[in-house]
Amino acid sequence: MKKITVKDVCLMKGKEKISMLTAYDAPMASLLDGEGVTALLVGDSLGMVVLGYDSTVPVTMEQMLHHAGAVSRGTKHALVVGDMPFGSYQVSVEQAVVNGVRFLKEAGCDCVKLEGGGEVCDNVRALVGAGVPVMGHIGLTPQTAGQLGGFKVQGKDMDTARKLIAGARALEEAGAFAIVLECVPGSLAEVVTRAVAIPTIGIGAGAGCDGQVLVTNDMLGLFERFTPGFVKKYLNLAPEIKTAVQSFIREVDSKEFPAEEHTFASKEDFHKLLDE
Ligand code: KIV
Repeated sequence: MKKITVKDVCLMKGKEKISMLTAYDAPMASLLDGEGVTALLVGDSLGMVVLGYDSTVPVTMEQMLHHAGAVSRGTKHALVVGDMPFGSYQVSVEQAVVNGVRFLKEAGCDCVKLEGGGEVCDNVRALVGAGVPVMGHIGLTPQTAGQLGGFKVQGKDMDTARKLIAGARALEEAGAFAIVLECVPGSLAEVVTRAVAIPTIGIGAGAGCDGQVLVTNDMLGLFERFTPGFVKKYLNLAPEIKTAVQSFIREVDSKEFPAEEHTFASKEDFHKLLDE
């Protein structure tokens, strides 16, 4: 299977649906990649589903690069998208370029994702100009969810819907190659998808987008603290893990584990050593 490029993803619009899942380490990246997912997003959701923070805000560049490098090493086929964490691109255009380049140079990502519409377009233009492909992210933007009034559906009225469409067009004009649309009404996501020539990838944005993204830990039922209503759990691993751990504890206690097949044998009678 050949490596998927940014150009391949762009060409999928209107022809084939894009599937994107998050990954934070090499073994999971390798599993998801092996099944043919289009793109792997090293999301800053890392902060919540892996690092134990309450939001994505505290996540640092060093944490993102550490995990993005692991995902790149575990991926042969999928496009690897590095999510720029809060504070890594807001200060200046120069800061955005320096940090965007780090995702490609130090972590082996193929492109970066950043949150925001018109307000981040100078940064998007500069990144693309420097050779760093950019995926936009509008609608509910978790890094600035406080300013949006919390984790709520965005673009519910005509005014905010117009702003969302303008944001998507501005990102396209600035050179973004795709846009994540998070938590917007399905009918608005359809309109945004028709308004731009680049692919849209929805999360909580209905079936009208060019692709779909989910947080892997949510869709596998691994993250118990909170599951957004738009998530479909394809598996419910947390209870299965608990059952497995209970069995391990019980079998260690009862000496059922390790059995003979889990134990290295030797012809020597080492018990003699106790008498030496
Ligand atoms: O960080 C993340 O996982 C994301 C997805 C929710 C799109 O940005």
